[in-house]
Amino acid sequence: MTGLFITLEGPEGAGKSTNREYLAERLRDAGIEVVLTREPGGTPLAERIREVLLAPVEEVMHPDTELLLVFAARAQHLAEVIRPALARGAVVLCDRFTDSTYAYQGAGRGLSLERIAALETFVQGDLRPDLTLVFDLPIEIGMARASARGRLDRFEQEGRVFFEAVRAAFLQRAAADPGRYLLVDAAQPLTQVQQALDVLLPQLLERHRG
Ligand SMILES: Nc1ncnc2c1ncn2[C@@H]1O[C@H](COP(=O)(O)OP(=O)(O)O)[C@@H](O)[C@H]1O
Ligand SMILES: [Mg+2]
Repeated sequence: MTGLFITLEGPEGAGKSTNREYLAERLRDAGIEVVLTREPGGTPLAERIREVLLAPVEEVMHPDTELLLVFAARAQHLAEVIRPALARGAVVLCDRFTDSTYAYQGAGRGLSLERIAALETFVQGDLRPDLTLVFDLPIEIGMARASARGRLDRFEQEGRVFFEAVRAAFLQRAAADPGRYLLVDAAQPLTQVQQALDVLLPQLLERHRG
């Protein structure tokens, strides 16, 4: 039995958390161990780094600081949760991962992709997700869904240009590697999104059987 590393990407309000739960239930119904986790975070220490990343503060966080904190949290998460789960043969469903770093810190903040790639290799070695679901939807719809949740975090406070760049980066990454990415139209009603995931499930079970 081989583990399977699946990441869910897209902006706030795209439905990552909702559909992560849905996929987890379907996989557990099939008798598979599923580990639900998220980034930044996923361990007590990494969740503390998350708080630092998301909390709006007076002092401007330098983009390099932000990038290094993201990867610091990721190193901890990989060591404590993701790698052990994959070694046990579990399916890991992770809400955001390194594609978000390319989208938010790369396209959004304008940090060099080479620098991100260097840190990716440093922290992850050759570990990459087996499958990445990109939940795509127009900026306004995602913002409307997310703002219904209340106070905006440090990223949600960004403006339209930032979010357009983030969206474009996710789309570009998905288009560049159709073997690893599945683009999901997240503007559709939830029942239709979940129908798309139902189509995917037999393939996931097949791959998990190895
Ligand atoms: N396809 C959809 N259509 C309408 N509402 C949705 C859809 N997917 C998710 N939602 C709702 O939008 C909100 C944000 O969804 P959530 O799964 O928390 O998104 P994310 O984790 O990507 O920020 C929730 O209230 C959820 O019920
Ligand atoms: Mg969420």
